Amino acid sequence: MSGFDGRVALITGGAHGQGREHAVQFAKAGADVVLVDVPEKVASVPYPLGTPEELHETAALVEEHGRRALAIEADVRRMDQMNAAVARAVDEFGAVDIVVANAGIVTYRPLSDMDDQMWQDTIDVNLTGVANTVRAVLAHMLERRYGRIVVTSSQAGRRGVPNLAHYSASKWGLIGLVKTVALEVAPALGITCNAVLPGAVDTPMMHHDEVYAVFAPDVPSPSLADLEERLGQLNPMPITWLEPSDISHAVLHLASEEARYVSGATIDVAAAFNANNP
Ligand SMILES: NC(=O)c1ccc[n+]([C@@H]2O[C@H](COP(=O)([O-])OP(=O)(O)OC[C@H]3O[C@@H](n4cnc5c(N)ncnc54)[C@H](O)[C@@H]3O)[C@@H](O)[C@H]2O)c1
Repeated sequence: MSGFDGRVALITGGAHGQGREHAVQFAKAGADVVLVDVPEKVASVPYPLGTPEELHETAALVEEHGRRALAIEADVRRMDQMNAAVARAVDEFGAVDIVVANAGIVTYRPLSDMDDQMWQDTIDVNLTGVANTVRAVLAHMLERRYGRIVVTSSQAGRRGVPNLAHYSASKWGLIGLVKTVALEVAPALGITCNAVLPGAVDTPMMHHDEVYAVFAPDVPSPSLADLEERLGQLNPMPITWLEPSDISHAVLHLASEEARYVSGATIDVAAAFNANNP
């Protein structure tokens, strides 16, 4: 992996989970990191999202690697907040070279039972929030004729998954967004736009009762152990979880100099779960 010395990476959803690991890996590779997280309440989400304390913990982890960190409390649903976050990053760190649009939520319900709030929250965060993040940096990247845009989609962006119509639609939509942006920025030569599509990753998003019940519906009061047993059966490579660092390595590759002509691509990191995708 090439170094990222002198580069600035802005990561949404950086307080915990995959976003935190991406931040640490970029810092290890030499980048300064701007962290965006701590949204306003997302009404339909039943598990804890990132807190100010976690956001500052991630910043401290970046600084432990000798890099600068900027922690910004902002909500990707708010275009004004994302514009302000990018403006502050450019003001304080001089540029944004890399953006990782990673913030996302997941909830579970068959479409027939889904209320307006659950549908709208998912589209607002996972689809509009990513579009806002990319829109907030695009003019800056086009002006500099340099940029690496990495968007976090999902295996649910490539196949239907019961209980996830809203999530699947949002993550599928991101692939359309990524491919379109890749074409729009291609003439600038130095800008790429790609997506990573993780399988099940061991993060706070996956550690709560609703997830256990969805994956093990036949078990009364299912636990983490039941979820892990089912994930082990789902993955063709015999693992339970991907680790956040498995996703970070793909993200860093897409952000590297070596990947300068990789654009409009979707990179599966899913232990061959993706191999059955249509
Ligand atoms: N964990 C998995 O199994 C898995 C699988 C495939 C894809 N993904 C995707 O990976 C990405 C990262 O998820 P994770 O596993 O780290 O989950 P996570 O819940 O652990 O972390 C997500 C982070 O995004 C932040 N966030 C959510 N809504 C936000 C908003 N409106 N504004 C700003 N920040 C917001 C949260 O506060 C949290 O810190 C998400 O897009 C998710 O959909 C996750």
